[in-house]
Amino acid sequence: MNKVKNLINQLNKKHFLSIDEWYQVIQGQNEEIIKYAGEIARKAREPYYGNKVFIRGLIEFTNYCKNNCYYCGIQRKNKKVHRYRLTIKEIMDCCKEGYQLGFRTFVLQGGEDPYYSDDKVVKIITSIKSKYPDCAVTLSIGEKPRESYLRYKEAGADRYLLRHETANENHYRKLHPVELSLSNRKECLYTLKELGYQVGAGFMVGSPYQTIESLVEDMIFLKDLNPHMVGIGPFIPHHDTVFAKEAAGSMDQTLYFLSLIRIMMPEVLLPATTALATIDSLGREKGMQAGANVVMPNLSPDMFRKDYLLYDNKLATGEESAQSYQILEKRMKKIGYEIVFDRGDHVSMKKD
Ligand code: 5AD
Repeated sequence: MNKVKNLINQLNKKHFLSIDEWYQVIQGQNEEIIKYAGEIARKAREPYYGNKVFIRGLIEFTNYCKNNCYYCGIQRKNKKVHRYRLTIKEIMDCCKEGYQLGFRTFVLQGGEDPYYSDDKVVKIITSIKSKYPDCAVTLSIGEKPRESYLRYKEAGADRYLLRHETANENHYRKLHPVELSLSNRKECLYTLKELGYQVGAGFMVGSPYQTIESLVEDMIFLKDLNPHMVGIGPFIPHHDTVFAKEAAGSMDQTLYFLSLIRIMMPEVLLPATTALATIDSLGREKGMQAGANVVMPNLSPDMFRKDYLLYDNKLATGEESAQSYQILEKRMKKIGYEIVFDRGDHVSMKKD
C-alpha cells in the first residue's frame, strides 16, 4: 500500500500524525490520494452525522472594520467600499425571515467594528435569544478582550467563529499588519473555548506565502486547539488589495484539507464555504463529498450583500441565498445528502 495512504489510515485510527508525517501527507497530494482521503473522510463522518447537512443563516451585519488584513476586501484602508451597518431592527428582521424559513442557527458576522460596543452586542444577543430561545447564536466579530467574550456568553451566545488564518508566525506577518498578532489570535481562541463556546478556527487554502510548513503548523494547531468547528476555503484575490494579482487557492487542495480535517477530527462541524462555491460551480457538492457537513447561506438584506465583498465574485444569490435554500436542498439531495433544520450542535454538546 502507498505510503501516504498508510499515513492517512493512521490518521484515521489515531487522529494524530507527527510533524514529519504531516509533511509527507501534505506533500503527497495527488489526484488518487485526494480521492482516497475523500473516501476515508466520508466513512469517518458517517457514525456522527450520517448524510445530514446542517444549515446556518449568515447575517453580515456590518462591513466596517478597524483592521487592515492584506487579503481582505473590506479592510479599513479600502475607501471604495460602501460601508453599512444593520440596526437591531434590521438584524431581528433577518432572524424573523430566517426562522420562518426554518433556520435554527444565526451567524452574526461582521468586521471588527467598534460602533458595536459590548452593550450593543449583548443587546443583539439577548434580543435574538429571548425571541428565539430554540435557536443557536454564533458570533464572528473578531478579537475581543476576555471580559467581552464572557459578557456575550452570559448573554446567551453559543458559538464563536474566529479563523486563526495561519498558525505560522512568518506567514501571519505576511498577511497582517504589525498591530495584529498570531499570539493574541490564538489566545482568543483558547479563551473562547475555556468560556464554554463551541469554537471555530480555520484558514485560507492557497493564501499568498503559504508553504507546506505553514500548512503542517495549521494542522498541528488545530489538533491542539481541538475546535468544534473548522472553516476553510480557498484564498481568492480581491481587486482592491495588495494581493490583487495573486493566484487563488486550488479546489483540489481545499478538498484535500477538508478531508484531512474530517479524518483528524471526525466529529467536527465543517462547512463547505462560500469561497469554495465561488471558485467552482459544484463547490458545495464537492465539499460535502470531501467530508464537510455544514452550509451557511446568506440571510443578510439583499441590498447590502454586494458590499460584503471579502474577495472578488463572492456569491450571494441563488443557492447562496437563504431565501433560495430549496435550490441548495435539491442539489444536496441529488448527491445523497439531507439538509436538517435544527440547531446542529457539535455531537459533544448533545445533552441526552
Ligand atoms: N479570500 C478568501 N477568504 C477570505 N477571507 C477574507 N478575505 C478572503 C479572501 N480574499 C476569509 C478569512 C476570514 C473570513 C471571514 O473570510 O479567512 O476569516
